[in-house]
Amino acid sequence: MLKMIELPYPLNALEPYYSKETLDLHYNILYKGYVDNTNKTEEKLNLAREKRDFSNIKCLEKDLSFYGSGAILHELFFENMGPAIPTEPNIELMKQIIKDFGSYAIFKEQFTEASKAVEASRLVYVSVGAKMEQIRNITM
Ligand SMILES: [Fe+2]
Repeated sequence: MLKMIELPYPLNALEPYYSKETLDLHYNILYKGYVDNTNKTEEKLNLAREKRDFSNIKCLEKDLSFYGSGAILHELFFENMGPAIPTEPNIELMKQIIKDFGSYAIFKEQFTEASKAVEASRLVYVSVGAKMEQIRNITM
Protein backbone atom coordinates (compact mmCIF):
# COMPACT_ATOMS: atom_id res chain seq x y z
CA MET A 1 0.00 0.00 0.00
CA LEU A 2 1.32 3.37 -1.04
CA LYS A 3 1.45 6.01 1.68
CA MET A 4 1.73 9.76 1.25
CA ILE A 5 5.12 11.20 2.11
CA GLU A 6 5.26 14.04 4.60
CA LEU A 7 5.72 17.40 2.95
CA PRO A 8 9.30 18.31 4.01
CA TYR A 9 8.46 22.00 4.53
CA PRO A 10 5.45 24.18 5.36
CA LEU A 11 2.87 24.89 2.64
CA ASN A 12 4.04 28.50 2.31
CA ALA A 13 7.77 27.62 2.06
CA LEU A 14 7.97 27.98 -1.72
CA GLU A 15 6.46 31.45 -1.90
CA PRO A 16 6.64 33.70 -3.85
CA TYR A 17 7.36 31.21 -6.67
CA TYR A 18 4.71 28.70 -5.65
CA SER A 19 1.81 29.93 -3.57
CA LYS A 20 0.59 28.24 -0.41
CA GLU A 21 -2.76 27.61 -2.09
CA THR A 22 -1.14 26.00 -5.13
CA LEU A 23 1.09 23.74 -3.02
CA ASP A 24 -1.91 22.86 -0.85
CA LEU A 25 -3.86 21.86 -3.98
CA HIS A 26 -1.02 19.75 -5.36
CA TYR A 27 -0.22 18.05 -2.04
CA ASN A 28 -3.58 17.61 -0.31
CA ILE A 29 -5.83 17.15 -3.34
CA LEU A 30 -3.93 16.01 -6.43
CA TYR A 31 -1.12 13.98 -4.82
CA LYS A 32 -3.55 12.45 -2.32
CA GLY A 33 -5.81 11.49 -5.23
CA TYR A 34 -2.95 9.77 -7.06
CA VAL A 35 -1.97 7.84 -3.91
CA ASP A 36 -5.58 6.88 -3.09
CA ASN A 37 -6.31 5.79 -6.65
CA THR A 38 -3.06 3.82 -6.86
CA ASN A 39 -4.16 1.92 -3.75
CA LYS A 40 -7.69 1.40 -5.08
CA THR A 41 -6.25 0.05 -8.32
CA GLU A 42 -3.92 -2.27 -6.40
CA GLU A 43 -6.96 -3.58 -4.49
CA LYS A 44 -8.75 -4.23 -7.79
CA LEU A 45 -5.66 -6.03 -9.11
CA ASN A 46 -5.51 -8.16 -5.94
CA LEU A 47 -9.16 -9.07 -6.45
CA ALA A 48 -8.56 -9.88 -10.11
CA ARG A 49 -5.71 -12.21 -9.12
CA GLU A 50 -7.83 -13.87 -6.41
CA LYS A 51 -10.66 -14.46 -8.90
CA ARG A 52 -8.23 -15.13 -11.73
CA ASP A 53 -10.33 -12.72 -13.75
CA PHE A 54 -8.10 -10.61 -15.94
CA SER A 55 -10.81 -9.46 -18.33
CA ASN A 56 -10.19 -5.84 -17.27
CA ILE A 57 -6.39 -6.09 -17.05
CA LYS A 58 -5.65 -3.50 -19.76
CA CYS A 59 -7.65 -0.83 -17.92
CA LEU A 60 -6.23 -1.77 -14.51
CA GLU A 61 -2.62 -1.71 -15.73
CA LYS A 62 -3.23 1.63 -17.42
CA ASP A 63 -4.75 3.06 -14.21
CA LEU A 64 -1.87 1.72 -12.13
CA SER A 65 0.65 3.34 -14.46
CA PHE A 66 -1.23 6.66 -14.53
CA TYR A 67 -1.94 6.99 -10.81
CA GLY A 68 1.36 5.45 -9.71
CA SER A 69 3.46 7.71 -11.89
CA GLY A 70 1.40 10.70 -10.75
CA ALA A 71 2.20 9.87 -7.14
CA ILE A 72 5.91 9.28 -7.81
CA LEU A 73 6.31 12.46 -9.86
CA HIS A 74 4.65 14.51 -7.13
CA GLU A 75 7.02 12.98 -4.56
CA LEU A 76 9.98 13.87 -6.78
CA PHE A 77 8.67 17.41 -6.99
CA PHE A 78 8.02 17.79 -3.25
CA GLU A 79 11.38 16.28 -2.27
CA ASN A 80 13.39 18.35 -4.74
CA MET A 81 11.81 21.70 -3.99
CA GLY A 82 12.51 23.78 -0.94
CA PRO A 83 13.16 27.27 0.30
CA ALA A 84 16.97 26.92 0.27
CA ILE A 85 17.61 25.32 -3.11
CA PRO A 86 20.80 26.62 -4.76
CA THR A 87 20.30 28.66 -7.92
CA GLU A 88 22.96 26.75 -9.85
CA PRO A 89 23.99 23.10 -9.90
CA ASN A 90 27.09 21.88 -8.07
CA ILE A 91 30.39 21.64 -9.97
CA GLU A 92 30.03 17.97 -10.92
CA LEU A 93 26.52 18.45 -12.28
CA MET A 94 27.55 21.66 -14.06
CA LYS A 95 30.36 19.81 -15.86
CA GLN A 96 27.88 17.16 -17.04
CA ILE A 97 25.37 19.80 -18.17
CA ILE A 98 28.05 21.60 -20.19
CA LYS A 99 29.14 18.27 -21.70
CA ASP A 100 25.57 17.29 -22.65
CA PHE A 101 24.10 20.66 -23.60
CA GLY A 102 27.04 22.89 -24.48
CA SER A 103 26.36 25.43 -21.74
CA TYR A 104 24.21 26.01 -18.68
CA ALA A 105 22.36 28.77 -20.55
CA ILE A 106 21.40 26.38 -23.37
CA PHE A 107 20.30 23.75 -20.83
CA LYS A 108 18.09 26.31 -19.06
CA GLU A 109 16.68 27.57 -22.36
CA GLN A 110 15.82 24.02 -23.53
CA PHE A 111 14.28 23.17 -20.15
CA THR A 112 12.25 26.37 -20.12
CA GLU A 113 10.96 25.83 -23.66
CA ALA A 114 10.12 22.18 -22.91
CA SER A 115 8.23 23.35 -19.81
CA LYS A 116 6.22 25.85 -21.84
CA ALA A 117 5.32 23.14 -24.37
CA VAL A 118 3.90 20.58 -21.93
CA GLU A 119 0.19 20.03 -22.08
CA ALA A 120 -2.31 19.94 -19.21
CA SER A 121 -0.79 18.90 -15.90
CA ARG A 122 2.25 17.06 -17.24
CA LEU A 123 5.78 17.70 -15.96
CA VAL A 124 9.27 18.30 -17.27
CA TYR A 125 12.12 16.99 -15.16
CA VAL A 126 15.82 16.41 -15.47
CA SER A 127 16.99 12.83 -15.48
CA VAL A 128 20.44 11.27 -15.42
CA GLY A 129 20.35 7.96 -17.21
CA ALA A 130 22.84 5.48 -15.79
CA LYS A 131 23.18 3.67 -19.10
CA MET A 132 23.26 6.77 -21.26
CA GLU A 133 25.46 8.74 -18.85
CA GLN A 134 23.75 11.84 -20.15
CA ILE A 135 21.38 14.38 -18.69
CA ARG A 136 18.02 14.65 -20.42
CA ASN A 137 15.00 16.89 -20.07
CA ILE A 138 12.08 14.51 -19.88
CA THR A 139 8.51 15.56 -20.54
CA MET A 140 5.91 13.47 -18.78
FE1 LIG B 1 0.26 18.35 -9.16
